[in-house]
Amino acid sequence: MSRDGQAQPGQERLEALLASMTLEEKAGQLIQYFYFPDFALQTTFVEEEIRAGRVGSLLFVADPALTNRLQRLAVEESRLGIPLLFGFDVIHGLRTIFPVPLGLAASWDPQLVERVQAVAAREARAVGIHWAFAPMVDIARDPRWGRIVEGAGEDPYLGARLAAAHVRGFQGEGIDTGEHIAAGPKHFVGYGAALGGRDYDEVNLSESELRNLYLPPFAAAVEAGAENIMSSYVGINGVPAAADRRLLTEVLRRELGFRGFIVSDANAVLDLTTHGLTRDEREAARRALEAGLDMEMALGVQFLGESGPAARPAAFATLPEAVRAGVIDERLLDEAVRRVLALKFRLGLFERPYVDEDRASTILNAPAHREQARVAAERSAVLLRNTGILPLDRTRLRRLAVLGPLASDKRATLGPWVFVPDLEGTVTVLDGLRQVAGSALQVDYAPGVPMPTRPIPSPFAALDQLVPGASTMASPAFDEQAEFERAVALARSADVAVLVLGEAADMSGEAASRSTLDLPGRQQELLEAVAATGTPIVLVLLCGRPLDLRRVVERTAAILVAWHPGSEGGNAVARLLFGEVAPGGKLPVSWPRSVGQVPLIYAHLRSHQPQTSGLRYWEEESTPLYPFGFGLSYGEVEYSDLQLSAPLIGLHDTLEVSVVLHNRSERPVEEVAQLYLHQRYGRAARPVRELKAFERVSLAPGERRTLRFVLGAEARRYWSAAAGAYVLDESVFDLWVGGSSQASLHAEFAVQAQKDGSGALS
Ligand code: BGC
Repeated sequence: MSRDGQAQPGQERLEALLASMTLEEKAGQLIQYFYFPDFALQTTFVEEEIRAGRVGSLLFVADPALTNRLQRLAVEESRLGIPLLFGFDVIHGLRTIFPVPLGLAASWDPQLVERVQAVAAREARAVGIHWAFAPMVDIARDPRWGRIVEGAGEDPYLGARLAAAHVRGFQGEGIDTGEHIAAGPKHFVGYGAALGGRDYDEVNLSESELRNLYLPPFAAAVEAGAENIMSSYVGINGVPAAADRRLLTEVLRRELGFRGFIVSDANAVLDLTTHGLTRDEREAARRALEAGLDMEMALGVQFLGESGPAARPAAFATLPEAVRAGVIDERLLDEAVRRVLALKFRLGLFERPYVDEDRASTILNAPAHREQARVAAERSAVLLRNTGILPLDRTRLRRLAVLGPLASDKRATLGPWVFVPDLEGTVTVLDGLRQVAGSALQVDYAPGVPMPTRPIPSPFAALDQLVPGASTMASPAFDEQAEFERAVALARSADVAVLVLGEAADMSGEAASRSTLDLPGRQQELLEAVAATGTPIVLVLLCGRPLDLRRVVERTAAILVAWHPGSEGGNAVARLLFGEVAPGGKLPVSWPRSVGQVPLIYAHLRSHQPQTSGLRYWEEESTPLYPFGFGLSYGEVEYSDLQLSAPLIGLHDTLEVSVVLHNRSERPVEEVAQLYLHQRYGRAARPVRELKAFERVSLAPGERRTLRFVLGAEARRYWSAAAGAYVLDESVFDLWVGGSSQASLHAEFAVQAQKDGSGALS
């Protein structure tokens, strides 16, 4: 059957192929191994498995000559010649690197996200990758969690809109074109709620949180046609996701209507035993398959301490024996194999298993891709503060001091999840400023302080050794005292100091959680010494999460959050600072004052003594430093004339909203108009406000524009714990439109069941 339930042309071929397969070959299609090119023991094992037809998919290969060579083993040397499916973490680009996903989310621009992932897909497909383990659509409300950088932040509506955009970008109109790849939204589900923000730690979620917060981006990704979903390492409420039948089969497949295949996270099936769910790998394989998991991602190796590493087959390699013993119904195996083979057919792999290696090199880093990367970085940056210093006026400046260890750090410019870094082609903030400043403006540089390395190294540092081309994160060594003084002296003699501070590339991402949100190392000290010179500071932050800026803000004249902006990051930052383009990104997360406040969310519930909700701690306000949805441009936008299509609507009715935006300044501005709703009463208390619509617009100086939003009934639908169901309530709703989650332009409307003749609540 096709994904929409229709028989399709390849179906007979698929069934004939399935009928010719041995149990080992079937199980093989459900096994994906890592392939670490420089690790002979592992690759020898994997290559033997390919020839024997005992592996259906590989990950971690991004070199076209290598994908072709391995594909030949499958197509020409295995009995049935079934092509391999190559997966890869194409998170924010392959060769051309875009801003990290949290940065892309700050663009609030689904079309941009779609274009970006179309480029990423094109580059990936050119080297023989067929499937991205992306987007990560986990809602993340705790900035200590390193993987907040990989997602769209705290909000389910923004997350859902962007999840769909990522999927559309990767998959385009069709994945058989040689330009697109399958998307694999992850990690199903709730991974972002890890206790204490500690990666991999347990997750406990109520049904309301699951359904109102964590599922919507997955639902949107499924609706957009995602071919694959990856289950999470962790499980919720004590059931590891790879074996959670309720979530994988009942919720994901039956309720959300997902028709693709489900892959586990790395080694997560074998880990069912590690987690204390299953007795051994046989039981793990059986329970995962029965839960609805189709493919096991496995390392293919295990590390045995003293005796060194040894090859290790996936748990799913035990499935044939289980079928023979009558423990597993072969039809279950067949179902999963069908799903995997169907994707291979849809990708056109049986017709075109190989890539053209010469073409690949022209596609990677095509000029149009670079242009897209620059635009993406420009649109992702968030201007948090500007006392009027920005945009910088070239005609009035003579000397610019560019300071801070990250100003010239190519790896931090790219960010985490870049496995084939093109350092040569990476434009740092220093490079960009030098280029854009022009010859009349002198640009001096001093790192000032070294970027510290992590006291507890990233487990992926070892992986860097296995992936050719990956680089070390360490900064070059220098005489710290002399360098610090040099930086301060440069600041003193400059008209403006551009400080580039934040986090190194390995300080966010997987296994990169933090217990503080401080500027690592001596960066704060550098900032303070530079501030003491009296030279105004423009702070550019490279980071994968909100940082603690309490001791920073007052010392700066402007703060631009560039995230990890990607290959063209430096050009984008320079063009923003010099006003060649207006900033317009908005925060996809609430920016806390300090780590003690987290998780801090804008869509919280009203509770006892709401008038003191910003004063829940006695030593510090419990409000964010910068609210969700906040970001400045180089001009003021005024919102007015908020109008609703009706003051009273029926439960299932649509509401139309219009509002006028006016750019009151003499510069072009970028704005993201945001619409928030609050339900005053109903079958559950609802958050003080929730994002329900947004639109990013560019407004010329003086321009007025009317925006219209259409709010269908789904904007009011939510899961009520009391009802144990999704409901639409009769109620009165507050509605705000404005430039952040603190929008003040307000209207209200009522919803009544009788109004639309339905009579009943639903
Ligand atoms: C991560 C996944 C990733 C996979 C393959 C895992 O450790 O959790 O997000 O796709 O590795 O690299």
